[in-house]
Amino acid sequence: MAKAQRRYVCQSCGSVSHRWQGQCADCSEWNTLIEETAAVVTPFQAKHNLQSGGRALTLVKLDAEIALPERMTFGIAELDRALGGGLVAGSATLIGGDPGVGKSTLLLQAAARLARSGRSVAYVSGEEAADQVRLRAQRLGLGDAPVQLAAATSTRDILTTVGQGAVPDLLIIDSIQTMHSDLIEGAPGTVSQVRASSGELIRFAKERGTAVVLVGHVTKDGSIAGPRVLEHMVDTVLAFEGERSHQYRILRAVKNRFGGTDEIGVFAMESEGLSEIANPSSLFLTSRDENVTGTVVFPALEGTRPVLVEVQALTVRLASGATPRRAVVGWDSGRLAMILAVLEARCGLAFATAEVYLNIAGGYRVTDPAADLAVAAALVSALSERPVPSDAIVFGEIALSGEVRPVAHGALRLKEAGKLGFGRALVPAAQTAEGGALKLSSFKDLPRFVDHMLGR
Ligand code: TYD
Ligand code: MG
Repeated sequence: MAKAQRRYVCQSCGSVSHRWQGQCADCSEWNTLIEETAAVVTPFQAKHNLQSGGRALTLVKLDAEIALPERMTFGIAELDRALGGGLVAGSATLIGGDPGVGKSTLLLQAAARLARSGRSVAYVSGEEAADQVRLRAQRLGLGDAPVQLAAATSTRDILTTVGQGAVPDLLIIDSIQTMHSDLIEGAPGTVSQVRASSGELIRFAKERGTAVVLVGHVTKDGSIAGPRVLEHMVDTVLAFEGERSHQYRILRAVKNRFGGTDEIGVFAMESEGLSEIANPSSLFLTSRDENVTGTVVFPALEGTRPVLVEVQALTVRLASGATPRRAVVGWDSGRLAMILAVLEARCGLAFATAEVYLNIAGGYRVTDPAADLAVAAALVSALSERPVPSDAIVFGEIALSGEVRPVAHGALRLKEAGKLGFGRALVPAAQTAEGGALKLSSFKDLPRFVDHMLGR
């Protein structure tokens, strides 16, 4: 009989190797490889291929009639939007986030809202005792919601319980890392346990039509803890993000088989739980009464929603020949280096002897290239000590040639700024968008923009 193959599975990325190593060859994490029992290959399986003996499937056309999946809305607009219009019955959703970001709070509030609207909801906590969850619910004013609560970690117990009689419309598992399947060996939280437990839960969802929501913790590098495999198994992956030191939280769809991944929900963590932020721009703008140098407002886009954020730059002249520091928070440092280079080479501004600090206010992260011009404006303003008018917004992409390029959704960005009382916008010349309430100044290239800023 063939010797059983040993296999080692990385607990961080799920890759499999046949030799133990201190460092995973795929994700370079240390001490993450753990031995797992491989599936036993019988001589019968090895001898026969899979091309006969199966059940013939009925193949269908793409345009065959189908009923649209039923969606359950929570009545929490920010959550419903991130989900693409509500939770689909029989779907599996994973919510990932750092410990303490507010996943349990969000799901408890969502569960209570859904239960109050007449749906049956089961909330299983593997991390907190039932009393703890109940205490929190009462503190949040949700004590009267007819949510079915249990503290359990055995997947078999959970599925036996909810599988009896009428299945719940929604089953929440908080968190999948605490769940244990007795079908296989291994401690809860290992890749094989997480995979087995979620596999069973997802199968239950598909077979019985219950929407299952799994909570997953996130590792320090930002992936959902251990099992990246989990992201492939579920229909929807939501990331719940936010700095713990800041109040706001963003719920972002990372993957959605039933909708787009370009929508976000914005919440604020308050003493009475999470509240919805219908107008996110107000959250990211610091008070804007004075003309401070080095700050510029940039209309960022989150999916189809404009969010106004403040770009802040500070430059410090260095007398000695020391290498000046460049520090960036909330933006790409490579892109900052590029903008500095274009400002030096095309506009003759000397940043080489200055330290440069760039920050996006409120702990927000910007990845949109449309922020280039706003960053350039903040840098020029900081270096020249001339403030950018506080009622102005700036956007545009900068090419290495110094050209200022138009960006996507200019009209949306302008409209949001107009709504919030901004008076003017500095935009690319080729941007075809009506300013509406805003006075537009357009620029073909960066030298002209710098001249305008310096009053030349
Ligand atoms: P929690 O939902 O337990 O986080 P997670 O499940 O993602 O680990 O939220 C924990 C944090 O939220 C905790 O640090 C306290 C804070 N919090 C509030 O500020 N207000 C509240 O009403 C609640 C319930 C929690
Ligand atoms: Mg929790």
